[in-house]
Amino acid sequence: MITLLRSRRSIRKFTGQKISKDIQDLLIEAMLRSQSSRNIRPWEFIIVDDKKKLEHLSKAKQHGSGLIKGAALAVVVIADTNKSDVWVEDASIASIQLQLMADSLGLGSCWVQIRNRMATDELSSDQFVKQALEVPDNYSVESVISIGYPAESPKPHSKENLQYDKVKYGSFSKPFYQD
Ligand SMILES: Cc1cc2nc3c(=O)[nH]c(=O)nc-3n(C[C@H](O)[C@H](O)[C@H](O)COP(=O)(O)O)c2cc1C
Repeated sequence: MITLLRSRRSIRKFTGQKISKDIQDLLIEAMLRSQSSRNIRPWEFIIVDDKKKLEHLSKAKQHGSGLIKGAALAVVVIADTNKSDVWVEDASIASIQLQLMADSLGLGSCWVQIRNRMATDELSSDQFVKQALEVPDNYSVESVISIGYPAESPKPHSKENLQYDKVKYGSFSKPFYQD
């Protein structure tokens, strides 16, 4: 696990290679195994691999969503907001579990933020994605996780850049690590 975390980066450029059904099944199993508050599992997932739909979803925001069109597939993570008051946390965990599973399979991925973002001055990103994929009103869209075989290899974050000063020991004022 630590080896995976040490090399993990967001990937925004993908080769055109498709993701096999067997690999997709592993990704799906990984997200369905996510922990959730009271095991309510308020999330649902829409797998999109149709090029035209990916292209359309890439316009879900004015900035930061263009990468979706180059992905082999996108997993749109939605949740029934009536089912849990902590659906945001649950949907985030499932999104990250999916991304880490993708990394472990040699895939690359990037989270595209949808919640609290705008597609146009009038239309929220949430509404945009829900209209595109016929999602009912009682759902919210947490993220669009864009996945594919990596066509870039950003340098891993170095250990020197980790913010060890953010770790405290016993109380806020006492650092865990000292020079
Ligand atoms: C909640 C969240 C929202 C993000 N939204 C976007 C996004 O909309 N577009 C994008 O290109 N990257 C997005 N990212 C990826 C971050 O930009 C990325 O994780 C950060 O720059 C650190 O880079 P790294 O993942 O390579 O370590 C998001 C990441 C998180 C966790």
